[in-house]
Amino acid sequence: GKSGYDHYMLKEINEQPTAVRQCCGERVSELERTIDVDSLSALSVPERVQFVACGTSYHAALYGARLLRERGVPATAFLASEYDTATLPVDESTLVVGVTQSGETADTMGALRGANGAGATTLAVTNVVGSSAARTCDHVMYVRAGPEIGVAATKTFVSQQIALAMLACELTDEYDDDLVEALRDLPDKLQSILDSSSGREIAREYLEADAYFFIGRGYNAPVALEGALKMKEITYKHAEGFPAGELKHGPLALVTDRTPVFALVTAGSNPTKTIGNVKEVETRGGPVVAVTDGCDDVARYADHVLEVPETHSALAPVLGNVQLQLVSYWVANELGRSIDKPRNLAKSVTVE
Ligand code: F6R
Repeated sequence: GKSGYDHYMLKEINEQPTAVRQCCGERVSELERTIDVDSLSALSVPERVQFVACGTSYHAALYGARLLRERGVPATAFLASEYDTATLPVDESTLVVGVTQSGETADTMGALRGANGAGATTLAVTNVVGSSAARTCDHVMYVRAGPEIGVAATKTFVSQQIALAMLACELTDEYDDDLVEALRDLPDKLQSILDSSSGREIAREYLEADAYFFIGRGYNAPVALEGALKMKEITYKHAEGFPAGELKHGPLALVTDRTPVFALVTAGSNPTKTIGNVKEVETRGGPVVAVTDGCDDVARYADHVLEVPETHSALAPVLGNVQLQLVSYWVANELGRSIDKPRNLAKSVTVE
């Protein structure tokens, strides 16, 4: 059941500290002692990594690709429906990672079969034991989020981010004690956000918005996309997410006093430049909600602040995302939407 929550989505948002603990499990200690995690050491340092995924899982893939690039591995995220081995270098030294919570998404399965056919090594990062992706790929890493009932992916997304952070360490044999320590602290930090978020008040303040925009740079850019996707699916309101620098290349034309802009501003993800973009919004009269760890004093330029605790720069987007989930949830709740089963959507998309 919903354990007293009005919706599975809110229950699952609140289960995220547990989901992260489960995903980390013994893996964190194994990373620390450079023990093989999930038998993945056979894969060590492929020539290139290609991620294939859809929707929210694609946002996790964008994040995972960045983590690997930062560790020196050429890595790219592809929308599974656009992945085409005929137009890409794919061979035995290529690792293709399918990120799919259900393990059944037709687009992702098609891409993984194509990768297998082209001789790549394949890895499924999935929540469902024995799923099609788990059975089709050479290797599997389970994200261990527990069952997710709400159609909108929440705890599975966080768990994917964490799994991909550990995968990046394992693949590159890069023992990163700061990251490992930050992973251990993450559940408590998530809990502190859940206990104190003012997402509900902010949702109420902007219920009448024409559109919601989300911006962030670097590690925060995929979370800006995810913030907008979640808002669209459960509120049916217009929402768009951009890497922050792109705002001025077109979307800024849409900014008015009826388009709140949620800006992810955290240390290590170019906060000074993002604040520059925040000022562009402010000048056009757009309300700004900063999701921030307090770096660079962004509060001076924002109408509202959603705080996130400081953490490793690569994990800041995991925390920022939870604040955005809560805002979307409360907008949808106030509007009386069918939050757990949004119109036109299904939990598992088995057609191409
Ligand atoms: C959004 C959402 C979808 C899925 C997408 C891929 O909340 O749930 O965008 O992320 O359909 O699904 P999986 O991860 O099962 O492959």
